[in-house]
Amino acid sequence: MGAIGLSGIRKVFPDGTVAVNDVDLEIDDGEFVVFVGPSGCGKTTLLRLISGLETITAGQLRFDGQVINEVSPRERNMAMVFQNYALYPHMTVRQNIAFALRVRKFRQSEIDERVNEAARILDLAELLERKPKQLSGGQRQRVAMGRAIVRHPGAFLLDEPLSNLDAKLRVQLRTELRRLHERLGVTTIHVTHDQVEAMTLGDRVAIFSEGSLLQYDTPQVLYRQPANIFVAGFIGSPAMNFLEAALVGGGDGPAVSMGDTRLALGPQATGVAARLGDTLLLGIRPEHLGWRRSGDGAQGALQARVELIEYIEPEAYVSASLIDPSVVVRTADELVGGSQEDTTALAHDDARYLTLRVSADEVPERGEVVDLVVEPDRVRLFDPATGNILGR
Ligand SMILES: Nc1ncnc2c1ncn2[C@@H]1O[C@H](COP(=O)(O)OP(=O)(O)O)[C@@H](O)[C@H]1O
Ligand SMILES: [Mg+2]
Repeated sequence: MGAIGLSGIRKVFPDGTVAVNDVDLEIDDGEFVVFVGPSGCGKTTLLRLISGLETITAGQLRFDGQVINEVSPRERNMAMVFQNYALYPHMTVRQNIAFALRVRKFRQSEIDERVNEAARILDLAELLERKPKQLSGGQRQRVAMGRAIVRHPGAFLLDEPLSNLDAKLRVQLRTELRRLHERLGVTTIHVTHDQVEAMTLGDRVAIFSEGSLLQYDTPQVLYRQPANIFVAGFIGSPAMNFLEAALVGGGDGPAVSMGDTRLALGPQATGVAARLGDTLLLGIRPEHLGWRRSGDGAQGALQARVELIEYIEPEAYVSASLIDPSVVVRTADELVGGSQEDTTALAHDDARYLTLRVSADEVPERGEVVDLVVEPDRVRLFDPATGNILGR
């Protein structure tokens, strides 16, 4: 009933800004989809195009099998919740929730029934006679959801509904939102710039950069098989480590070399043989990097000095700087464009650090030189020119 389809959707503002660039996307009925990407990547614009608040420059938009490009926002039967909630300060919670129904001239008995139902679902029954200023941030957020729920829409469009809340409440309301979705089963598009929120909430997650859709898949696939450097660097915290590595041949099949270190590749090398001799970008997640006490320069090990240990019990993030000056480290921040909020403290200042994510019970000493252990099957290879993943 509430499937949403986008084909070649494009939005160019009058000043020439291309906010949404040829987006193709299919959302199933009842699915919870998250749009994520850094600020300015076009998430709000795309949501407004879907809701009808903004006109589409090109492409086709479908809802429940019908083309709705020309259908007015009100007739689209979608309910949008805005980032700032926009509650009416002079109205009570009850009046706020009832507002859209009153405007649409619903009977009073129907209005009362729907408002009470929404209040029950959202745990607002005790607060119906209060004004917005007498509510906490989380309660206001629930009222905003209540205004959407009473319309019994075919889809919810939520634009950063949790971003004005403090961290603890955000996590709590995230769970509530997901539960609400399980209960109502209504197609939902949830916009956020927070990749953790995206990965925990979405059945599928669409990642955007500069108006373009980069990848649309389940959180598991995005994490394990990122299509390109942007997705790889954007998803995951601490961020993936990136190193420049030359692809070399050998008796045991393709390998990468970084300075004096050579690492035989696993199945991901399938199909990269044509790039022999090229410098590629190697990506490795912090949890796939281990360490060993250094047997001073054991053959072929990447050696690094432990610079900082951050305890995020029961884990620890270890920042280590590479000893070999010829190995080039690139930061996710530099490759992705400053969109990561929560990388480790050192990640921003110096591109020579790699981050390991280890058990807090198994940390090296600060200042110690260790051999880094790379799990070969976990390595991902990217084309530095296009940013796309290579091999499989
Ligand atoms: N009315 C407008 N006129 C011109 N440019 C706009 C307008 N609204 C948004 N933009 C631009 O479109 C791009 C996408 O904005 P937006 O959809 O708000 O991004 P997001 O919600 O992902 O932060 C940005 O470059 C923004 O400056
Ligand atoms: Mg926005």
